[in-house]
Amino acid sequence: MWLTNLLLLLKFNFKPMSVAKKEYKRITTKSLVDMKANGEKIAMLTAYDYSMAKIVDGAGIDVILVGDSASNVMAGHETTLPITLDQMIYHATSVVRAINRCLVVVDLPFGSYQSDPKEALRSAIRIMKESGAHAVKLEGGKEVKESIKRILNAGIPVMGHLGLTPQSIYKFGTYTVRAKEEEEADKLKSDAKMLEKQGCFALVLEKVPAKLAKEVAESVSIPVIGIGAGNGVDGQVLVVHDMLGMTHEFNPRFLRRYADLHTEMTNAFRNYKDDVKSKDFPSDKEQY
Ligand code: KIV
Repeated sequence: MWLTNLLLLLKFNFKPMSVAKKEYKRITTKSLVDMKANGEKIAMLTAYDYSMAKIVDGAGIDVILVGDSASNVMAGHETTLPITLDQMIYHATSVVRAINRCLVVVDLPFGSYQSDPKEALRSAIRIMKESGAHAVKLEGGKEVKESIKRILNAGIPVMGHLGLTPQSIYKFGTYTVRAKEEEEADKLKSDAKMLEKQGCFALVLEKVPAKLAKEVAESVSIPVIGIGAGNGVDGQVLVVHDMLGMTHEFNPRFLRRYADLHTEMTNAFRNYKDDVKSKDFPSDKEQY
């Protein structure tokens, strides 16, 4: 019987029906868990301002992360450490104004949650109340377990972040791949389990071996979103300035550039300058 069906399929050049993806009018933390359960990958990008967030949201990206990478790409700092809670709230507020569909997750910045769980909750509440975002993200495993518990108990969804956690860059001393050794890999696996058990709705895995990331993704029911963590995870995140090719100096292996905006923008600025200098701009039609 199956052979007859196969022959019929071949004869009439039928293609197997593709699995219809569920349409989500608005992405919630539950949608992400559903996507993982249904084998649909999650697309996440960073954004830090209204205009960029509007384009990202309109393109159908599932999650916008108002990352503390704003410290690097927006403010020009070398690390993510200097950005403040007030500055994160400013970025988040601008992003939230732009979105119709995306889930908006905001990074708790360095120093706003590590010292004690009460302060962590206060910081998370400020983000939620003042920006209108939908969830917070914080870095670390068992060291920040009590803070995660407190925030979750207040009804605020938490996304974890393990592997290369940039707020600890001075402890690591390098941006190279994390958890290559067994001890660190074992800690990462148990931290991922802990985050799931506490009730985090998802976690980011940054710059870890693909095999380990796949193992972690398969061991937890919550979505694992990778950056430099291979294709065996449940979704991907990139910093929007990097994937658009606005930053030229940063070239990690995991980064795929989808545009070369550095060149496009430089050419546009040069053409504008030439037009102004040569008095070509504005023309008769471009004035009142
Ligand atoms: O701040 C950020 O952009 C991030 C991503 C790299 C995951 O945390």
